[in-house]
Amino acid sequence: DSNKGTEYTIRAQKGETEIFDGVQTKTYGYNGSFLGPMLQFEKGDTVKINLINELNENTTFHWHGLEVPGNDDGGPHNVLEPGEESTIEFEVTQEAATLWFHPHPEGKTSEQVYNGLAGLIYIEDQNSKNLELPSEYGENDIPLIFQDRVFDDEKQLNYKATANEDGTVGDTSLINGTLNPKLTVDKEKVRLRLLNGSNARNYTVKLNTGDAFVQVATDGGFLNEQVSMQEITLTPSERAEIVIDFSQVKTNEEIALVNEEGTTLLPFEITDQTGKTIDIPDEMNDFSVTEEEKNLPVTKEIELFGMMDMVTINGKKFDPERIDFTQEQGVTEVWEIYNKPDMMGGMIHPFHIHGAQFKILSRNGEAPPENERGWKDSFSVAPDETVKIAIQFKNKGIYMFHCHILEHEDNGMMGQVKVE
Ligand code: C2O
Ligand code: CU
Ligand code: CU
Repeated sequence: DSNKGTEYTIRAQKGETEIFDGVQTKTYGYNGSFLGPMLQFEKGDTVKINLINELNENTTFHWHGLEVPGNDDGGPHNVLEPGEESTIEFEVTQEAATLWFHPHPEGKTSEQVYNGLAGLIYIEDQNSKNLELPSEYGENDIPLIFQDRVFDDEKQLNYKATANEDGTVGDTSLINGTLNPKLTVDKEKVRLRLLNGSNARNYTVKLNTGDAFVQVATDGGFLNEQVSMQEITLTPSERAEIVIDFSQVKTNEEIALVNEEGTTLLPFEITDQTGKTIDIPDEMNDFSVTEEEKNLPVTKEIELFGMMDMVTINGKKFDPERIDFTQEQGVTEVWEIYNKPDMMGGMIHPFHIHGAQFKILSRNGEAPPENERGWKDSFSVAPDETVKIAIQFKNKGIYMFHCHILEHEDNGMMGQVKVE
């Protein structure tokens, strides 16, 4: 579903969804029984959203990647109790991007997302409208939300029985909430907006043919130019927009997106229709890292550590009463994030900061890969890796930063920065 405009009502609801033929699975959704609508904002719009909690538990409405004041951000402080409503209003000030929204109540984020609460936000702007890219929603511009789940014998989601402290990983792959999905495309270039919406799994996707595709956008905007990729890995909450060229593919050719093991995630059905010819523009954005940003001293250091329910940031667990850092609105600072290995070697932590799009300056002192040279709000940090970012907040308020393995977040791998 796509919803364009400046005024919305979003209800967090319980429902039933036919994921398996003839079986009703109990799920959560926004304005429906499972997942949510796609909200389309335009840069410059003032957007008003009525939020309604129709669940019988607390929830919040968090806009992942959106640069909004802390009070509108939907972090764990913005709780709506069962039956409660509120209205937020903010201006869309950032450039075209694919963002998403999901709940963020303290200790319950993982379960609520697992049960189905997640939706997409597209921001469009003058640049995105002018660029010659596939942009017909549902035709050649398609969102793909990757998630994995475990269903019990009754084909129900049973979070408590399956939950893993180190991140709940499923044995069943869903795309856009659909089991065994397939996508019908014409012989043309098709843009796929990928979101890793899983609780914990890292998704690596590639074409079964081994052919390359191109990446055109990161979490928070277009890359300056397309980057050719053999495969792409997204850690939880990361997005990427890619374009696959189906124009030369034969109608009966078997082509699919597969994971790193070659297991099919999404088969394509190619019609005999030839779509329009699109040449991806050479220049899509004017993202840059300035010399000044490169030379800024590190002013915030973050150490990610631990596993299971022993996860910490700088040796501490989340405390809603504690402000970990302060930062001045509109001032760029360099944060250094280090993933400290443990005796077992450690694991990748996907790190995310609310309320800002930022620039990755380096990974272990080296320039980031080409496909990370664009606005980001989440990134992977491998064991013993150090990632430096330059970040500026446009708005004031309290913002979370955390590991986006949702069980790690719920286990306290989260801190707060107050922007004043
Ligand atoms: Cu997807 Cu705290 O966010
Ligand atoms: Cu977020
Ligand atoms: Cu983690």
